[in-house]
Amino acid sequence: MDQRITYREAVSSDAEALLEFLKAVGGESDNLTFGPEGIPFSAEQEAAFLNRLAESPCSRIFLALDGDRIVGNGSVDGTANPRFRHRRNLAIAVRRDFWGRHIGTGLMARMIAFARQTGAEILSLEVRADNTRAISLYRKFGFVRIGTYKRFSRIGDEYFDADLMLCDLPEQARA
Ligand SMILES: CC(C)(COP(=O)(O)OP(=O)(O)OC[C@H]1O[C@@H](n2cnc3c(N)ncnc32)[C@H](O)[C@@H]1OP(=O)(O)O)[C@@H](O)C(=O)NCCC(=O)NCCS
Repeated sequence: MDQRITYREAVSSDAEALLEFLKAVGGESDNLTFGPEGIPFSAEQEAAFLNRLAESPCSRIFLALDGDRIVGNGSVDGTANPRFRHRRNLAIAVRRDFWGRHIGTGLMARMIAFARQTGAEILSLEVRADNTRAISLYRKFGFVRIGTYKRFSRIGDEYFDADLMLCDLPEQARA
């Protein structure tokens, strides 16, 4: 593990830096649900969202930091709906110049530990079918492909398939 990198949960004061980070990673690959424009939230909206998240029983955003700089994020997204609260959806991104330094691994470990502690039984994610680096990362944590969603996303005139992947948390490893 890279000793310089630290990990923690995102808090409302991270809002502005997190929005900038998302624009940066959005411009560094076509593997995310957004491009260089980032996500359509103001800093105030993002801060309010992060405040709500900190109180959420099943959702969080985790950050990887190099000093004060955000270089990775991972989100665990759950719902309080009793019919779905055994599930969480995961998403992750790392700045390109930090790829291959096990930051994705560090974020995944923390996201999965949080999901377990909050009662998750099944983790899910969608990943572009040609995103071999991300797929290797997910397989390392026990995710398996359950199917391919043809034309899952569209960038300009080009369509991309996505693998739907699940990780069944072993019963003994749950909280
Ligand atoms: C996918 C992503 C999060 C991985 O982050 P990372 O910090 O580079 O990941 P790690 O260094 O922890 O590597 C994880 C695993 O990926 C695999 N991997 C590493 N380099 C690889 C390569 N060149 N090709 C294929 N797999 C590779 C390895 O299995 C590695 O684990 P190991 O070194 O223990 O064997 C990062 O590349 C990224 O943000 N990409 C752009 C956004 C994205 O694709 N997000 C996922 C959307 S579903």
